[in-house]
Amino acid sequence: MKGLVLAGGTATRLFPLTIVTNKHLLPIFDRPMIYYPLEVLAGMGIREVLVIVGGKGVGDVVELLADGSHFGLDLTYRYQRGALGIAHAVGLARDFIGDDAFCTILGDNILRGEPLAGVAAEFERGPWGAGTLLYRVPDPERFGVAELDADGRVVGFEEKPARPKSDLIPIGVYFLRPGAFEVIDHLAPSGRGEFEITDVLNHYIAGDGLFTRTYEGHWTDAGTVGSLLRASELAGADHGAGRLTPPPERPVG
Ligand code: G1P
Repeated sequence: MKGLVLAGGTATRLFPLTIVTNKHLLPIFDRPMIYYPLEVLAGMGIREVLVIVGGKGVGDVVELLADGSHFGLDLTYRYQRGALGIAHAVGLARDFIGDDAFCTILGDNILRGEPLAGVAAEFERGPWGAGTLLYRVPDPERFGVAELDADGRVVGFEEKPARPKSDLIPIGVYFLRPGAFEVIDHLAPSGRGEFEITDVLNHYIAGDGLFTRTYEGHWTDAGTVGSLLRASELAGADHGAGRLTPPPERPVG
């Protein structure tokens, strides 16, 4: 399985913090934000990872992560022009992915407490075309939101609905196969002018090809001032409990 980290976008919700700084470089407790998703992919046993970069300070992101060897990863970079959405960014990975299954993680998602190697292997072995992890939040209107049937099965996702149909959201971890690129080719932009990952997930629900699992650890995004603080609290609590290993040492030069 290959990995994809999405670290583009303009991060306007964090202005003025991100007027001149790339969001993914902001500190979350003791390390830059983007270390967390990279460590999640490394924990799945993935080695080859494409980082989609964009927005401010792209050179700083590349300089920080370098070849990725300090994470045990082999990193490649691709530039995303504009902020056309998650599905558009995934589409840029087509040549890198080739014939492999892959896990995409949003560069501002912080996951603590449940290792995902088993889930990744389950998806890779299984028949599904796509997969995501669900998590209960108090403010679902900020995210994609799952609609469930009477048996608790996901029947659809709505992106940032004014009236959420549940408090269960797909977090920014997506398991995909190369067939997703064709789905992305046929997407239309949403009302906010973006190519939405929730539309990709909906495509697979319709064909009974979506793998979903509740994430059993702790999760937050870090794309707003409130969630940025929560992310540091989450990592800081793990540090206090001895569960946060020191950031990987980056060779200087
Ligand atoms: C994105 C996705 C949304 C998902 C969220 C998780 O939203 O569009 O479906 O629930 O990430 O972090 P964003 O907050 O990037 O707009």
